[in-house]
Amino acid sequence: MVRFQEVKKRYGRFTALEGLTLSVAPGEALALLGPNGAGKTTAIRILTGQLAPSAGRVFLDGVDVWREPVRAKARFGYVPDRPYLYGKLTAVELLRFVAGLYRIPRREAERRIEEELARFRLTRYASALIETYSHGMRQKLTFAAALLPQPPVLIVDEPMVGLDPVAARTVRELLGSYARPGRAVLFSTHQLELAESVADRVALLHRGRLVLLGTPEEVRRAHDSRNLEEVFLRLTEDAADARAQDPDPLA
Ligand SMILES: Nc1ncnc2c1ncn2[C@@H]1O[C@H](COP(=O)(O)OP(=O)(O)OP(=O)(O)O)[C@@H](O)[C@H]1O
Ligand SMILES: [Mg+2]
Repeated sequence: MVRFQEVKKRYGRFTALEGLTLSVAPGEALALLGPNGAGKTTAIRILTGQLAPSAGRVFLDGVDVWREPVRAKARFGYVPDRPYLYGKLTAVELLRFVAGLYRIPRREAERRIEEELARFRLTRYASALIETYSHGMRQKLTFAAALLPQPPVLIVDEPMVGLDPVAARTVRELLGSYARPGRAVLFSTHQLELAESVADRVALLHRGRLVLLGTPEEVRRAHDSRNLEEVFLRLTEDAADARAQDPDPLA
């Protein structure tokens, strides 16, 4: 459903992605892990057609994102790390606009809009201008908009930022179940416990390289660890070293 093939990204002389090859199969949720600056958002922006790769190709549901961008874009829903929404629309107007883009028939669209607003507890605010929404409400509305076309692939960059506990649980359940009927989910996160509990496989990026890929169980067993956190810290140790050199404020 998702395929990165030898994807490289250079920003001037800095290489953010060093030949990433990675796939997400139908029915699978994959968590992209890695320290700040590892290349997660870069990979997601290339996959969603926002950032051109320096080399390599990306495919969504068999469609080359950079050769057939319009066909590719019909195949995924995307929740970016920083949601951008039109403040002068209401939530319902935004969702109707999205339904129109995806050519969802009118009555079907109205039904789905109601469902998504209810799922994210936004029904009461359906007619409020988005500019009056809090950060978390915008995040929830972005999810509702991404899910409305029921896309084959759901792509989420840091799903939990700003969500209250109720919304966080909704999103956790969604990430764990959305892929089941032959769809795919790709999400980045710093919450290793989230990755461990909802992802079928985890991929760890470190300095633009894939340093680990497998089911949480495989990863724990291969590294003789109790949890992903231990493995993460071990494999990204240079980041931990840098922190250790900082003065300890409590010392
Ligand atoms: N437009 C840009 N120009 C130059 N360097 C960039 C640009 N965008 C990202 N980078 C660099 O590429 C690297 C990867 O950034 P990226 O945003 O993909 O990391 P990330 O894994 O998403 O990190 P985080 O966990 O903090 O979100 C970083 O070193 C970053 O500074
Ligand atoms: Mg990021």
